Formats: sequence, structure tokens, C-alpha cells
Amino acid sequence: MREKLDELARRRAEAEVGGGVDRIAAQHDKGKLTARERLDALLDEGSFVELDAFVTHRAHDFGLDRTRPYGDGVVTGHGRIDGRLVYVFSQDFTVFGGSLSETHAAKICKVMDLAVRNGAPVIGLNDSGGARIQEGVVSLGGYADIFLRNTLASGVVPQVSAILGPCAGGAVYSPAITDFIYMVRGTSYMFVTGPNVVKTVTHEDVTMEQLGGADTHAATSGVAHFACASELECLQRIRELFRYVPSNNMADPPRGAGTDPRTRRDEALLDVVPDHPSKPYDILEVIHRVVDDGSWYEVQPDYAGNIVVGFAHLGGHSVGIVANQPAVLAGVLDINASAKAARFIRFCDAFNIPIVTFEDVPGFLPGVAQEHGGIIKHGAKLLYAYCEATVPKLTVITRKAYGGAYDVMSSKHIRGDWNVAWPTAEIAVMGPKGAVEVLFRREIAEAADPVAATDARVAEYTAKFANPYVAASRGYIDDIIDPRDTRPRLIDALETLQGKRDRNPPKKHGNIPL
Ligand code: HXC
Repeated sequence: MREKLDELARRRAEAEVGGGVDRIAAQHDKGKLTARERLDALLDEGSFVELDAFVTHRAHDFGLDRTRPYGDGVVTGHGRIDGRLVYVFSQDFTVFGGSLSETHAAKICKVMDLAVRNGAPVIGLNDSGGARIQEGVVSLGGYADIFLRNTLASGVVPQVSAILGPCAGGAVYSPAITDFIYMVRGTSYMFVTGPNVVKTVTHEDVTMEQLGGADTHAATSGVAHFACASELECLQRIRELFRYVPSNNMADPPRGAGTDPRTRRDEALLDVVPDHPSKPYDILEVIHRVVDDGSWYEVQPDYAGNIVVGFAHLGGHSVGIVANQPAVLAGVLDINASAKAARFIRFCDAFNIPIVTFEDVPGFLPGVAQEHGGIIKHGAKLLYAYCEATVPKLTVITRKAYGGAYDVMSSKHIRGDWNVAWPTAEIAVMGPKGAVEVLFRREIAEAADPVAATDARVAEYTAKFANPYVAASRGYIDDIIDPRDTRPRLIDALETLQGKRDRNPPKKHGNIPL
């Protein structure tokens, strides 16, 4: 027996060294961790349990039969994050550049299947040269096997992708289907075709970083949700995500551990909204003052800043917050903001996370670029996502709720459960000046003093519509609250909605405007 155990230990040690010490050194020289070091940083200490460590590839061509390293370029298994089960795969760039073979793909598929069967998240740490060139179509088939599983697991268990090296060609489409993508500045890249092909086809000169680096995808394309300064920061951020999200679509989200009093009022909320209706303010200040101490996890913070989305705890309950940001483009809804918020809302709805909306929106962004870019269909995504969501939906209108955006932002009409306004709210078809210019154009043009005539009509319109009382008189909002009470009132409402039961009509699936 001892000899057999020695052999097992020898083989295991061989598996652990992956592509060898020289390639590990090369990986470190690039400022990158190895596949196993990454898992150590991601998971609770000592919790990783490896599967398929002794799997080898089965190919023979192009010299592959000379070397069959254990693990075949990916380390797979399960571990714990704050004691909760997660399934993981971590591609090993030191073995054939982390390229994906038939067996490499089969290992990933195995952990994905286990994750779905056992109701646990899947976290993929990607660092790969893409399809294993020597295996041809077999490796393409392996990718397709993964794409199918990504799609079937979507909305069943959370799926997270960290891009920690190259991720090119069709390989990008697995992370793209997952719920959250984390990238690292300077070492991770995603593109369908790299700079050389781009140069040949479009004659554009572009670096890897510009084409598909972390900042490009976090701020410009919106493909990535987080751009991190280092791999360790990235892995730590993934751990933090699981403070808010449940393990699967049948489970409740985890409770926050904070001690912030549920009844805490906040005096400063009285002064956040400026007196002048077009003066900007930072909605993040409202969020920070309302949520449980420091429990704010912003998603896509560098993209479409006119809408803010993220997770928080409120009275210990996990919530997804969607908030118009008056400090950026006056909080207007545009194509990018609509798509960003729609996807976040659908994640929350799939995973039983109530949605809290802070609304201050002057409407959809006008302009040729927006219209030709399809603001109609992209704005419809946001509307659709709010309409179909059956989780508790709570809305606080802090200032403007104008036009179609009033309807879209979780209004009572689209099954908002608890809708309130601050006394500063203005709920109307459009702002006073715009409305007066439409309604009284001729009167103003003919007036002896057009400025005075406009001001008089604006004052009249403001008194009639630029307030929350018309909506309140109809029951379109449930109450007008003192801003200082926002936190205790939200927590109270959340708790009344704990047993909420709502469902959509039976169907195969809807047809969200894409
Ligand atoms: C087999 C590969 C490989 C691959 C890298 N290697 N990519 N082996 N198949 N796809 C091997 C290299 O031969 C090398 O082996 C080792 O991995 C490290 O690669 P290097 O080139 O030395 O590393 P580096 O200079 O860091 O460059 C990394 C790289 C480059 C940018 C990823 O290797 C590269 O361009 N690889 C090919 C990328 C690609 O075109 N993949 C196919 C994409 S299409 P040795 O033995 O020398 O250490 C695709 C389709 C997906 O993936 C289909 C989905 C539908």
C-alpha cells in the first residue's frame, strides 16, 4: 500500500506542476498567478477539492502524443466562499497555453453539470489561447458543449467569469453568456479578432489593451462588469459578490451581517436634492445614506454612468438597486443605460433579489444617434425587464419622473409593489418649460412680453403638475415620505413583501426586444 500511495503522491505532484517550473516562472514574470494560486486566493483556505486531476488529452497529431500532462490545461473542482459551495474551473496557461481540447472541455462541462445539479454557482477563471489548434473541430465542439451549458444554466445558478489572460475568438462567448465578467488591467484581453486581423481587414492600428483590455470593456463596450487593478483584487471582488447573491434560483439571497439600526433616520437626506430642479446631485450619496453601513457593491461602475446599478443590504436583506444618476447627463435614459439596467434587473429577478429603484429621470435621451442606434428597442429592454420581474419592486421618486421614463422605472402600473415619492418629486408628461412651449407657443409668440408670459405659464404648470400630489391622489404612488425616513420605510416595505407571490403567464419564454 505504501508504494501505491507514494506513486499517487508522485503523480499528484506531477499534476500540480502543470506545464513545468519554467512555464510557471514565465507566468509569474508576466505578473500573472498560476491556475492553482488563483484558486487558493478565490476560495476559503483549504476548501478546494480537485476533480479529474489525472485526465489527459487523447490526441495524437502534431506531436501531441509525445506529451500528455495531467489535468490537460485546466484545474477543476469545488470549494467554498464564506462556507458556501461553488464549482470552479481555472485554466492553466502553462499547459499548451491553456488551450481547450476535447478533454479540457469535458472537465469544464462536468463541473458545470455538477453545479446545476447541486444548485451551486460556477466560477470560471479564464486564461487560454483558445481552441487547441491540433485538435481542430473536436475542440470547437468542446466550446459548443460549454456554450450550451452556459445557456441552460443561465438563471438557474449564478455564473461568473474572470478573464485573467487572453480570451479570443469564439472563446469570448462563454464568458459573454455568464452573469458577471471581471477583467484585470494590463493582463486580460477579450476580442473576437485580435489587433493583427483588425489591421488587415480594417487598416486600423490598435493595441491589445485598446482593442479588448479591461478598461475598454468596462467603460466603452460594456462587455465587462469590473476592471480590477490586480488578479488578487479581482478574486477578492468575486468573493464579495457572493455576500449578495444566492447559490441558485430556488434559494434566498444571503443575509447581511451589519449592525446598522433598522430605524436609523438620516438628517442629511433633507438637503441632497437641490432647490433648483435642473441642478445635479449625486444619487450615490442617497444610496450610501440609506443602505446598511458600507454594504454597496456597484456593478458596471465605469459604464453608462447615467444609471447606477448594484447590490446592497437593507435591514440585512439583499437588494438590487437601480438608480438614475442626475450627476451624469442629468440621469437621462439612453441606449447603454437601458441595456445595463435591464440585464441587472433580469439577474435580480432570476435570483430572488428584490429591486429597489431610486428615480430621478428627465426622460429618454433625444438625438439622431440615439434614434438610429435603436433607443426604441434598447429602451424597451428596460421596460420589459421591469414589467416581467416578479420579485418585490420598491420605488422612491426623489425628483423627476417625466414621460415614458415614469412608466418604465418600476411604476405602479407595471407591478411596482411599493411606490413612494419625496415631496420634491415632479411627476409629469414633461418638464414645465417644454410643456409650456408646446401648449402655449402661439400665446407666448403674440405676448407683449414673451419672457413674462412664459414665466407665468411655467409657474402655473409647475403648481399643477410638478409635484407628487396628482399621482398620490390616484394611488399611483402609495405615499409621500419624509426623505429622512427613506431607510426605515424601505426596510419595512421589504419585510411586508417577504412572502410575495406573483407569476407570469405560462409560456415557453418571452421575446425581449434584443
Ligand atoms: C495549442 C497553443 C494555443 C492553441 C497557445 N498555445 N495557443 N497550443 N492551441 N490555441 C501554446 C503555444 O504553442 C505555446 O506552447 C504555449 O501555448 C504558450 O503560447 P505562447 O504563444 O508562447 O504565449 P504568448 O506569447 O503569451 O501568446 C499567447 C497567445 C498566442 C496570444 C494566446 O499563443 C496565440 O496567439 N495563440 C493562438 C490563439 C488563437 O488563435 N487561438 C484560436 C482562437 S479561435 P509552447 O510549447 O511553446 O509553450 C478559437 C475558436 C473558439 O478559440 C471556438 C468557439 C466557437
